[in-house]
Amino acid sequence: MTNAEQTSVLITGGNKGLGFEAARRLGEQGWTIFLGSRDEGRGRAAADKLADGGANVIMVPLDVTSDESVSEAVRLVRKHTDRLDVLINNAGAPGTIVAPAEATVADVHSVYDTNVYGPIRVTHAFLPLLQAADHPRVVMVSSGGGSFAVVTDPEQPVSKMHELAYSSSKAALNMITVRYAQALPKIKFNVATPGEVANRKFAATDMNHHTGQLTVTEGTDSIVELATLDADGPTGIFIDRLGPVAW
Ligand SMILES: NC(=O)c1ccc[n+]([C@@H]2O[C@H](COP(=O)([O-])OP(=O)(O)OC[C@H]3O[C@@H](n4cnc5c(N)ncnc54)[C@H](OP(=O)(O)O)[C@@H]3O)[C@@H](O)[C@H]2O)c1
Repeated sequence: MTNAEQTSVLITGGNKGLGFEAARRLGEQGWTIFLGSRDEGRGRAAADKLADGGANVIMVPLDVTSDESVSEAVRLVRKHTDRLDVLINNAGAPGTIVAPAEATVADVHSVYDTNVYGPIRVTHAFLPLLQAADHPRVVMVSSGGGSFAVVTDPEQPVSKMHELAYSSSKAALNMITVRYAQALPKIKFNVATPGEVANRKFAATDMNHHTGQLTVTEGTDSIVELATLDADGPTGIFIDRLGPVAW
């Protein structure tokens, strides 16, 4: 069983990119890391790397698009702990950029399955473990592209990026977070975007072919800030590493 004094966190898509960096940073703080990875080999390699650095890490096979995989993940986490302090819904898919006129339901559905239904699937399944914690927090990893204010600002490059699936999936995730926050006040539900929205910067990862201007450490500042909120911290907010982001 996990030490009752240790904070525990489950991170989806923890095998690389921002999820891995968030795991590394929270592991450094002595937290127990449940490292979600849809591919066992990649997850095992990532968990070994964190363990070599001294982290207390348990690899959890977890495909956010599969009910069965998520149920198995709950069973595995329950073998180690009877509560979960923090859930970071980080796993995300960019989809292929298809112009709105050409986009089909199938194009959009596969992105929603990961970015919208994934966080709902995982959150719903882990709610009992979260509710057993003294001060539970859920961090949803969204994007500036999910903000109506950002996408309709002509100064923002994303306003000229014509696609339907990714931005609308993150907009849905933002609203879902607000609705969870309103309905479940004992759990903090907040949204982090990894970039610096005002400066039009994002973090270099595989998702953007490493074209981002920020490091993964900078990219995870907002995620770590929300994961480590005090008991009297906010719920239902949307931030990047510089502060609040307009919805
Ligand atoms: N980089 C940025 O600046 C930026 C900006 C805005 C938003 N975001 C968001 O940040 C989050 C992390 O992205 P990243 O930049 O770190 O990209 P990344 O390096 O491509 O990592 C994405 C992670 O999600 C996992 N994943 C994808 N589909 C999954 C599924 N069905 N089940 C479980 N895991 C799945 C990937 O696993 P595999 O290795 O198996 O593919 C990988 O671990 C995403 O939600 C993304 O939308 C990033």
